[in-house]
Amino acid sequence: MFLKQYKYDKIYFVMGKIIISPSILSADFANLEQEINAVKSAGVEWIHVDVMDGHFVPNISIGVPVVKSLRKVTDLVLDTHLMIENPERYIEPFAKAGADILTFHYEACRDSKHVWEVINLIKSFNVKVGLSIKPKTSPENIFEFLDCLDLVLVMTVEPGFGGQIFMHDCAMKIPSIKEKAKNNLIIQVDGGINNLTAKICISLGANSLVAGSYIYGSEDYKKAIESLY
Ligand code: DX5
Ligand code: ZN
Repeated sequence: MFLKQYKYDKIYFVMGKIIISPSILSADFANLEQEINAVKSAGVEWIHVDVMDGHFVPNISIGVPVVKSLRKVTDLVLDTHLMIENPERYIEPFAKAGADILTFHYEACRDSKHVWEVINLIKSFNVKVGLSIKPKTSPENIFEFLDCLDLVLVMTVEPGFGGQIFMHDCAMKIPSIKEKAKNNLIIQVDGGINNLTAKICISLGANSLVAGSYIYGSEDYKKAIESLY
């Protein structure tokens, strides 16, 4: 197969390759460095960092100091998912802490102008920019931004918690996004991903899968990761 490679500073996206991004939300928080090295030795290049503020979502998880600490112990791509209100307030701290990708939520913005402001702010720090949509948000809402994004994150559960059941209807948004997108856009899916739902998302056009409980809840991380694609 012909593989076209796009160089994204340290992020290499190879067309035809599926990027697995294990969510450390389901990892052992007392041993994050080991948990990250364990998935690295299983072959992954990204880790997914779920930031929750207790407002945009009901849960609270981790923040800037943890990203800063992770940056010191890993060279993996820090794929940072901001489930927070007022994302513009926290872009600079997360960028300076070492996030490689900052994905914020369409629903956290007042209007299209606000979305553009956050996109441009993230780009001003030379960080890759992702935009995410919750299950009830229609993909048409984000079409106008697609050309300026590095990643679109389609949520297949309501954000806020790991270990929820995959919502098939949400995955059906993938083909319309793929059709409208430039060909090097990363289309990522997050929520309820396992060996079966991963195949559904890949067949619909996703090229990046976030998986938390499926990987970190398994006995053998490598086996779980390899079963996803
Ligand atoms: C949910 C988070 C996810 C979560 C996925 O709000 O955005 O990244 O960790 O967990 P699983 O894979 O267990 O559904
Ligand atoms: Zn996430």
